[in-house]
Amino acid sequence: MQSWSTRLGVILAVTGSAVGLGNFLRFPGLVAEHGGAFIIPYVIAFLIIGLPVAWMEWTMGRAGGARGTCSVPGIMRALGGQRWLAYPGALAPAIPIFLCGFYLFVEAWCLAYAWKYLIGTAPGAATAKQDFLQWIGATEDHGYLFLHGSADLWGALLLVLAINGLVIWFGVSRGIERVCTWAMPLLIAIALLMVGRVLTLPPVEGRSVLDGLAAMWEPREVASKLTSGEVWLAAAGQIFFSLSVGIGAITTYAAYMRRDTDVALSGLTAAAGNEFCEVALGGMIVVPAAFVFLGASYAAYTGSSIAMGFFALPGVFEAMPAGRWFGFLFFVLLSLAALTSSLSMIQPSMAFIEEALGWSRRRALLLVFAVLLAGLGIVVWACRGTVAIDTLDFWAATLGITAVALITALVFNWAWGTERGIAELRREAEIALPPGLGVVMRWLAPLALLIILGWFLWGELQAFRDGKGMLRTLLAERGAQLAMAWMLATIALYLAIARCGQRRWDALITKEAA
Ligand code: PFF
Repeated sequence: MQSWSTRLGVILAVTGSAVGLGNFLRFPGLVAEHGGAFIIPYVIAFLIIGLPVAWMEWTMGRAGGARGTCSVPGIMRALGGQRWLAYPGALAPAIPIFLCGFYLFVEAWCLAYAWKYLIGTAPGAATAKQDFLQWIGATEDHGYLFLHGSADLWGALLLVLAINGLVIWFGVSRGIERVCTWAMPLLIAIALLMVGRVLTLPPVEGRSVLDGLAAMWEPREVASKLTSGEVWLAAAGQIFFSLSVGIGAITTYAAYMRRDTDVALSGLTAAAGNEFCEVALGGMIVVPAAFVFLGASYAAYTGSSIAMGFFALPGVFEAMPAGRWFGFLFFVLLSLAALTSSLSMIQPSMAFIEEALGWSRRRALLLVFAVLLAGLGIVVWACRGTVAIDTLDFWAATLGITAVALITALVFNWAWGTERGIAELRREAEIALPPGLGVVMRWLAPLALLIILGWFLWGELQAFRDGKGMLRTLLAERGAQLAMAWMLATIALYLAIARCGQRRWDALITKEAA
């Protein structure tokens, strides 16, 4: 079985998984869109579901690893003591693969932009959007996301695939741990440099950085925001996505830990590290800079990470003194953040396939990449605009993560047992756990997850009745149907693999009993 070589290694790897495009593009866009009041549901979601579910995953991961299983289906089955738990567990490695189906594509854009800044061919404000759409082969309303003729984007995509494949092939400690150990400090150093640059920007046309921070962070319409279900859903969704929580990535990483290493402080450190990168670094760079240089028009970009990163920022770097170099650094930062995240989307499937089928790492890698390439192929070729990306984002990032988080909480509390779980979390703990954690883990977190899921499905049904929403898109768009077919086929494959794994997991349980 593979393992991390140091405790710092696992903390950096989990933090690397968490710190990604979500921190530097998605979060600032959400705060700017909803105003500073967003931070209230965001913090509450962190305390009620983010950190508790993260701790559940760390604890179950370490306990599963100690029993000789590193995959979420194996861990759920071993700890929960029921064979059938491997099947809901098999959803866990599938969801990050769905996310990866578009995340790698955006990762490639970031890398290609870094290259464009380096050689001085990045687009300016006037043409950023047209250039971008043309570059990805889309027109605004109904283009095809097709990489025609764009050598640098093709090159970047191949490079991103090669790098991810190579690192995974090198394995947990020689691959993932090594990359995260140098990428994370480098990423934070670049982010600090960017924060320093943005905070010392001179005013442009009377707009100062402080105005930019105010435009983003000022609490607006607090009462109406706090009573809006949409804002709560967005806050909870951001907490999951950003912490990489509720998806089995942390469980898999924690399974490679040594049995006598603390998980309580490690989990808290990784979560706090992510929040620092998100609020203190991500929240200080993109939006304030966009406000200073673009004025009120920056607001048009806040709803979408892609628009923020690829339409608004080129305008910022064009106007900023030495912007070419800051642009280069920023897109290197995004590329590193995305790489350490995408690795954690792939490794859960590797652990699962190697374990359930008894395959070598190379064979498992080939299968995972075959699945991934099918999804990427759909995103790149077969759809109109970003409809396949939106489909994957909707079903995996929103519905899938919440569902797997709920499954995790149910297995932790009811199949394994809250008390047993918390005793295991406490074992070797280097911090005292907060009082009332048991109640939060057993009741509050699952209840909050159920409400989120119900609320979300209800909203979708209503949208469907009004002739809108994702279900309608699914009925109307070929790209959405293809993306959906890919997800269903992958789930069927993973269920079949879980079935093959039962024999091996049975053997583990028998060994433990003996
Ligand atoms: N946490 C990553 C981000 O903020 O960009 C995204 C992510 C990584 C989600 C890994 C899920 C995951 F398993």
